This record gives sequence, C-alpha cells and structure tokens, in this order.
Amino acid sequence: MTVDARQPAPSQAAGPSRRAASPGRGQILLELKNVRKIREKGGVTFELRVPRLEIRAGEFLAVVGPSGCGKSTLLDFLGLVLKPTDYELYSFFSTAGGIDLGSLSENRAADLRRSELGYVLQSGGLLPYLSIADNILLPARLNRLGGDFAARRLKKLAERLGIADQLSKKPGHLSGGQRQRAAIARALIHNPKLVLADEPTAAVDYPTAREISGLFRDLTSRSGRGLVVVTHDLELVRPLADRFVSFKMQRLNARHTVSTLTEVSADG
Ligand SMILES: Nc1ncnc2c1ncn2[C@@H]1O[C@H](COP(=O)(O)OP(=O)(O)OP(=O)(O)O)[C@@H](O)[C@H]1O
Ligand SMILES: [Mg+2]
Repeated sequence: MTVDARQPAPSQAAGPSRRAASPGRGQILLELKNVRKIREKGGVTFELRVPRLEIRAGEFLAVVGPSGCGKSTLLDFLGLVLKPTDYELYSFFSTAGGIDLGSLSENRAADLRRSELGYVLQSGGLLPYLSIADNILLPARLNRLGGDFAARRLKKLAERLGIADQLSKKPGHLSGGQRQRAAIARALIHNPKLVLADEPTAAVDYPTAREISGLFRDLTSRSGRGLVVVTHDLELVRPLADRFVSFKMQRLNARHTVSTLTEVSADG
C-alpha cells in the first residue's frame, strides 16, 4: 500500500478555512482501524477501543473528554509510545509508503518518533539546566540536522513565537506562557510531519492559552503538518480544530469499563 494510492481528492482534504496548499496536505499520516488497548490496575480493567481514526497532513484533530476517558492512552498510540493489545490497522505513512507500527522494533519506533514526530507536554517538559536555545535545539541535534539550518529555524521559530529575547535564559526564569512557547518551538525545530500535544496550555491563563493555541495551529496544521491536541476544554479548540473526537464510556461491570472513540461535531 503506497501513500500515493491513498491520496484523497484535494476538495476532500481541504476545508473551507484552509489556506494555500502545501505539498502533502491531505496525505494520510496515521491510520487506525479496530485498535484496542486493555489496561489493568488493581483488578480494574480499562479498555480503549478505536473503531477508526485517520490523521492527515494539514489537519488539526482535537481529542476532547473528561479525566480518565483515555485521551493520554490514545496519544500514546499515536506517539508510538504504547503498543495496542490488538488491531486491524495501525499504520504510519511516510514518503516511502505505509509502515505497520505494531510490528516495528523498539529501535525503529524510536527512529520514527525522533524524526517524524514532535511533542508538546502539559508542563512544557524543558530541561532546567539547559538554556531555552539549547532546549529548542535538542531534537535538531538528535536528528543530526546541520548547525546552520537549525540556527535559522531556531531564529525563525523564536521570532514567530515571541521568545527571541529569551533564548539565553534557563527555563526557570521564564513565565509559564513563555515556557510553553519554547516547548512548541522545540516540538517543531526538526520539521516533524505530525505534532502531538497533551493539554499543552493547561498551565497558563485563558487569554494566553488562546493566543498560544492559535500560534500553535498556524505553525502546524496551517503549515501542512498534522496536529493532534488533547484537551478537556472544548471551548479552547472549538474555533481552531478541523475535527473533534471524544469517547463513549460504558461500564460493563464494576471492574471493567470500555471507552470507545467517536467523532463529534464542534458543538460537542
Ligand atoms: N499505566 C497504566 N496502567 C494501568 N491503567 C492505566 C495506566 N495509565 C492509565 N490507566 C488507566 O487508563 C484509563 C485512561 O487513562 P488516561 O490517562 O488515558 O486518561 P485521560 O483521559 O488522559 O485522563 P486525564 O484527563 O486525567 O489525563 C484510566 O482509567 C486509568 O486509570
Ligand atoms: Mg491524560
């Protein structure tokens, strides 16, 4: 199965709010079908079911739902951190074609994570002993990107995100909002195809969260990357995201809960 064979017609991929097309926009990046993950703790079973999910380049997917419904578990599949218990399709599409993620060795999964994915964590996850510049440059160094290329991207991203004058400081000397901007720059420096974020603005006030979320969208899905943001706050992502998914929770008995991923409209 090749990527080309899976390209949708442009009209299918582009929503009304989309700007100028960039190469690869609309291409499927990840495809999941009948994926299941069973997690057990203290005799209690949580079962996540994903009947179907596709993530495309240039698309912002919001994953919304209350605490414990399985948002982070889902993000862990998408980020190649966790393997499903069973699945029919669990594939990543690179320029070379489709890759079955379930049968990937840990080393190859780590390579793919490093080169194709970017992450923004809730707390930013910056290393406290490195400067903001060195934090942002870490993924570029891990991917052995040229120093000039990385320096140019660092400058551009820092300017765009409004932290150009913060680069020599340590994370502890920045505000929460500035740290989140730095975390976004770090997730993007190596030009990943897909960016994943788990509650990326939960630690900042609402106006800052709004502003950062808009910038994040502009630098990712509007620039042709895939973006998946997990949030409990539908209001924050409602004006920004292209698609929304949530979870239907079903208690089979006192010790077994099934949570099934389901597409929802922007109205929830
Ligand atoms: N390592 C684990 N081992 C066993 N069960 C786990 C593990 N991590 C999470 N779970 C269970 O899986 C279910 C879903 O957890 P998950 O962290 O995906 O929820 P969430 O939607 O991200 O919640 P929150 O909004 O609080 O972050 C919960 O019932 C949780 O107890
Ligand atoms: Mg979570």
